[in-house]
Parts: sequence; structure tokens; C-alpha cells
Amino acid sequence: MTQRAIRAPAMTFRGDPFHLAPGEALQYWPDALILIEDGKFLRIDDAESGLAALPGDVALTHYPDALICPGFIDAHVHYPQMQMIGAFGAGLLEWLDKYTFVAEQDFADAAHARDVARRFLRELLRAGTTTASVYCTVHPQSVDALFEESVRFNTRMIAGKVMMDRNAPEALLDTAESGYAQSKALIEKWHGRGRQLYCITPRFAPSSTEAQLEAAGRLWREHPGTYVQTHLCENQGEIEWVRQLFPERSSYLDVYDHAGLTGPRAIFGHAVHMEEEDFACCHRTGSALAHCPTSNLFLGSGLFRMFDAKKVERPVRVGLGTDIGAGTSFSQLQTLGEAYKVAKLGGHALTAEQGFYLATRGGAEALRLDDRIGSLAPGYEADFVVLDLKATPLLEFRLSHARDLAETLFVLVTLGDDRAIRATYIAGEPVYERDRAERFVYP
Ligand code: GUN
Ligand code: ZN
Repeated sequence: MTQRAIRAPAMTFRGDPFHLAPGEALQYWPDALILIEDGKFLRIDDAESGLAALPGDVALTHYPDALICPGFIDAHVHYPQMQMIGAFGAGLLEWLDKYTFVAEQDFADAAHARDVARRFLRELLRAGTTTASVYCTVHPQSVDALFEESVRFNTRMIAGKVMMDRNAPEALLDTAESGYAQSKALIEKWHGRGRQLYCITPRFAPSSTEAQLEAAGRLWREHPGTYVQTHLCENQGEIEWVRQLFPERSSYLDVYDHAGLTGPRAIFGHAVHMEEEDFACCHRTGSALAHCPTSNLFLGSGLFRMFDAKKVERPVRVGLGTDIGAGTSFSQLQTLGEAYKVAKLGGHALTAEQGFYLATRGGAEALRLDDRIGSLAPGYEADFVVLDLKATPLLEFRLSHARDLAETLFVLVTLGDDRAIRATYIAGEPVYERDRAERFVYP
């Protein structure tokens, strides 16, 4: 039994701030004592009572100018695209052909995949992200590389091999049968191994035949507890292409629904151009959406309608995605800054409370992991981030004028980035510390 104690201001969510009055969903401790045992939270108390009850032999770390929150959750990210972030000038379909499909071919080389997976996990941790739903490439070795590195850090990752059997370069294609067989072998190898979870990953409707989508649906039914991720209604040209490729289906989402790819643990990226019936289908089936604001702005895809998705009469689960490499930042703080602007252009004000919820507990609910991550609560896995409220001179000065917690959180969303991440803890271990000589340490 190993115990560790952390003292700092801390916050977590007890409910959904989209559906509760301001301040009601958030629990805040101005000075908390967090006790961790064997990788899980044992207790969170006010420091005064927590310290009085703390056994003398337990290591105590104090972060006075900080704020602890649950580790950030990235509901949609492509690790192979780390090498082509910031590719100039194109909209979605041209961007895929010109940049993405070129980069992804490099992952036939397992050594390249291992190198990028190593860098990727470190970027996530530097950004305070402790769980992500990750697209690999069509190559099974790209999945091995990602999970092998995740096992080293003991992070909870969801990931899978991209399935594509048409409309991509020959070198990136599998077939309905080989995509099924390779994904099945990867499920048997990785799903439930330590903290790793497998995600069946048909890239998007235009790059899979109906036969491949049906095989993906069958595989999902045969392996309860696994995930499905794909892209949905990102761009008008893409939507029109889906209409032409699947004339017998009533909508883009109906293509997936028909193949048995909707339901709890299905995560649809983007969902920018949604009809009411699409949101209703997500609500009915328990499917989740990943909002990727930096990507949607970068590619010029459009504005996600968060407040439509979260409508109280038929709420849809929504997580926050960076969508690296169409997205432009690993930081969920920066991603939230852009989510605020996207909502504002749609006539809504996304509060920082709502934003932090999306990046933590809301993401966990979207990924159906809210019984074990996304909250600071006894029994939960102790993945958390230490935010530095004095990370930059501007942040320190601005926050010295903040009147309350809501303002502090909103300024963090507006000004914060990876510099604000002082430390990232995985299952109670400080695997990343910004100011330590050796920043990254395997637990
Ligand atoms: N649609 C299909 N593939 C992709 C991808 O890699 N990135 C984005 N943003 N959209 C996609
Ligand atoms: Zn994507």
C-alpha cells in the first residue's frame, strides 16, 4: 500500500453545468488535502481537517499558487498527424489528400511509429491530458506503438487502427476482411490490458465501403465494451460526397446507424452540420460527439452548435477534441478558448465552468468512463493536473485582479496553454513536472 498526499486549491464537477444553475455543478476547495492510495483517490478534505488526520509518514507535496483539477480528456486526436500540424491552405478533402495521407504512409515503419508515439504521449502530458481517444493509421504496428508507450506511463488511452478500403492511396488501404481481422487481433491483444481500451476506427464513410462499415459494426457487437470512433458532418463537400456514395441512406449519420455503429461508446468527431434528427439520433442511441474547435476553425469547416447538442430536452453527450493535426493545439485550455469563440459566433456564451466540465467530467461521460476518471472523488483513478496560476507574468498579473473563481477559470481558458501545466499525475504518480530536471518519468 502506497500513500501520497497533495495540498492545493482544487476543483471537480458533481453534475453538468449545462443543466444546473451557475456554480451548482462545481465543487471547489480553496485549500484541499488530497490523499491518494495505490493510484486512486482515497479522500479529499479541507486541508485543516485533512492534515490533522494525515499519518506522519505519508509524503506531502504542497502547491500553494496552483489549482488542481481532474486530468484533461481529449475525445478526438490523430497521433500520426503530429508531424503535419499547420499544413497550409486547404479545406478538409484537399488537406487529407495533400498532407494527411502522405504523412500516414510513414507509419508502415514501426520505428517511425514508436518515435512519434513517444513524442505524442509527452505532448499530451505536457498539456495536462491524461486520457485521449486516438486515431492511429491503417497499420497495426502504429497501434502497438501507441499502446506500448501508454503502458509505460500507465495512462488510460483509447485507440484503434484506422480502417479504409477505398478513396485513399493504395498504401493506406485495407479490405473489409483484413480490416476486420487486424482490428480483432488488436482488440484481443490490447483491450483491457492494464488501462488500455480499444476503439474500432473506420476513418469516415467516404473511405469505407458499406461492406467494411458492416464488418466494423459486427466486430463491435462481438466485443462489448470496445469503442467506435469516426468522423461525421464536418464539411459541406464531404457531406455531399457521402450523399452520392450512399444514395439509399437518409443522412450521413444514417450511414453509421444502418451499419450498427451508433450507441454507447460511439464517438463522432466534429458534427458541425447537424440536423435536429441527427442530434435526436445521438440522444436516442447514446452516441457521443467530439467538438474540435481549433480544427473546425483551421480548416474552415464551420461552427459546432454546442447549445443545440446539449439541449435539456434531448441532451447529447459532448467531449472536447484537439483533432491534432487539423487542430492546432494539444492544450485543452487553448481548445476551450476557441470553443468559447465558436459558441460566441453562434450567439452563445460558453462559461468557463461549462468549458472545464467538457474537458474533464463531461469528456468522461462522453467516453462512458465517468465511473473511474474525470472527477476528484474517492475510488476514482488519480489522474490530475496541477495548473500554475503564476505561469506567466501576464497570467499572474491578470489573476491578481480576478474577483472570483469563475473569473479565474475564464482567464485560464483565455490566456492558458501548456505553460500553465505545472505537473501531470497519472494514477497518483507525477509523470510530468515542468520544473523538474527530468521532466518525464515513467512511474
Ligand atoms: N475526416 C476523415 N479523416 C479525417 C482526419 O484525419 N481529420 C479530420 N479533421 N477530418 C477527417
Ligand atoms: Zn479527426
